[in-house]
Amino acid sequence: MSDAKTYTLQDCVKKIEDIRQTFASDIAQLGGQLQPRAVEDLKVKFLGRKGLVTELMEALKSMPKEDKPGAGKVINELRQGLEKELEALKIKAEEGALDQHLNQHRLDVSLPVQVRRGQGSLHPVTLMRRILLTEFRRLGFTVYDGPEVDLDFYNFSALNFKDDHPARDMQDTFFIADRAKTILRTHTSNIQIHAMLHEKPPLRIVAPGRTYRCDSDLTHTPMFHQIEGFVVDRGIDMGDMKGVIDRFLKAVFGEDLETRLRPSFFPFVEPGAEFDLQCVACRGKGCRICKQTGWLEIGGLGMIHPNVFEAVGYSSEEYTGFAFGFGIDRMAMLRYKLSDLRQLFEGQQDFLGQFPTYP
Ligand code: PHE
Repeated sequence: MSDAKTYTLQDCVKKIEDIRQTFASDIAQLGGQLQPRAVEDLKVKFLGRKGLVTELMEALKSMPKEDKPGAGKVINELRQGLEKELEALKIKAEEGALDQHLNQHRLDVSLPVQVRRGQGSLHPVTLMRRILLTEFRRLGFTVYDGPEVDLDFYNFSALNFKDDHPARDMQDTFFIADRAKTILRTHTSNIQIHAMLHEKPPLRIVAPGRTYRCDSDLTHTPMFHQIEGFVVDRGIDMGDMKGVIDRFLKAVFGEDLETRLRPSFFPFVEPGAEFDLQCVACRGKGCRICKQTGWLEIGGLGMIHPNVFEAVGYSSEEYTGFAFGFGIDRMAMLRYKLSDLRQLFEGQQDFLGQFPTYP
């Protein structure tokens, strides 16, 4: 300030009067349309670092000593007064802005709530089961159902399991309390017995469902899904068996993949085998998924044992047949490239929502 030295208390009072007037006319100019932004601008103009009031405070330094206390007092009163007014204006402006917003976006509280309904998706096991059933229906199979809580007879004895077979031990099978002969089925093979007792040959049946074993780790859950298939008729041979396995695996995973049988043992088939599919990831070259073998183990199968036919009253002279069974969960993991079996049963929407609504 060039004339700083001549600045007196009177000048100061005059200046304060000027500032008050400017403030009043600024506000008058804003009129009814008080916006929070405009109030903010006013604050800068008067109280900001280079504002009018701040300028006056600076001038205080160059005033005669005796005038300083009086001038300081009035300037402070001015500052406090403006601060108070600006604060009140700010609140008024914000309320005005809110009112304006509510007027433009009228809220009718009597309207029904708008719920966002996401479209559901099918569980990967359901998708896999549907794909398999579609294929088996094409091959002329009928879909059958059977109990998950069953008697030892259907799950074991009638399937030619001897009384001391290790699968009957507590560690593998869930027994229903107080009823030693009632269990949670350990495989879907129990449906072979139920179906054969209820129907007459020829039979061409598939039966998907939940199965249970006392087993829990990275690749085993106590509840899992299997699908059972069996054919009983006159003149059924191993060529038919191999043909059906080959056909459905290729239909589901790709025509260019090979299948193979490896000799194995199950009490209810003779001869028995396990069937493998060429690795869907490396196509037989060997990788982490197939543990460098080039093959994936899919399930068990074999020609139905004469003792099973005996147990259900079929003539093993007249009829032959084959049966197979495999895990649906494992197949879903292969098809959808899942790394952890447990994801299938944790019910996380983030995971499950990624799958389609139909196969
Ligand atoms: N039930 C057998 C299992 O769970 C699979 C199987 C079914 C084997 C039919 C042969 C014939 O391991």
